[in-house]
Amino acid sequence: MDEVALRVATEADLPRVATIHVAGWQTAYRGLIPDDVLDALSTEVRLAAWREWYGVPGSEVWVACRGHLVCGFSRLQPAQDAALPVGTLDLTHLYLDPEERGAGIGAPLFGHMLERARDREAPTLVLSVLEGNHPARRFYERAGLQPDGHRATRPRALGPDVHEVRYRIDFDDALTSVGEGAPDGQPSTRTGDPE
Ligand SMILES: CC(C)(COP(=O)(O)OP(=O)(O)OC[C@H]1O[C@@H](n2cnc3c(N)ncnc32)[C@H](O)[C@@H]1OP(=O)(O)O)[C@@H](O)C(=O)NCCC(=O)NCCS
Repeated sequence: MDEVALRVATEADLPRVATIHVAGWQTAYRGLIPDDVLDALSTEVRLAAWREWYGVPGSEVWVACRGHLVCGFSRLQPAQDAALPVGTLDLTHLYLDPEERGAGIGAPLFGHMLERARDREAPTLVLSVLEGNHPARRFYERAGLQPDGHRATRPRALGPDVHEVRYRIDFDDALTSVGEGAPDGQPSTRTGDPE
């Protein structure tokens, strides 16, 4: 099986990114988000959203590839919450092809995104995760992130009564190199330059 490599996403990757994103929701979020919301998801609609998210100033999208096949992706953008320290980055997405979950790709991909945030001199990184998404929450906690007490709902996207909790890491407070502190202690992989 091909090794996994990380690189900056190009616009040509967006259809595959949208496909993985929808598949990720429909598998990992089944039982957390109402079935009618999940069943109504469309890769075409999600792709249109990705064409916008891709161009947001200050955002960057990375993909994990096995050979030529994209098998996961992650995205950073400047955080929108003015209460957070200036320069805080928000990890808006981290998804693997459902077939690739548990295969050791998430840790180096996430570790790399933490390294990118440090390279950009962000003081803090935040991310939001469904309150009931316990596997992902444990994954982030193993990487040294902690809930910061912020809890929110997005009824249009998630359906009623579904909440996200926010996790946070402050790089100045991190005792170790966060890139080395990815889940399972795996070193992050760097290939290519950011946008
Ligand atoms: C979260 C994610 C990126 C982690 O990457 P990974 O390489 O799978 O990481 P791990 O192997 O450490 O697995 C993380 C957790 O998912 C669980 N998991 C792994 N493969 C799984 C699978 N096929 N089905 C269900 N759960 C699985 C693991 O058991 C682990 O939980 P644990 O604490 O009980 O061990 C990846 O699992 C994923 O894409 N999940 C779906 C999308 C998602 O929830 N993204 C986060 C959005 S905030």
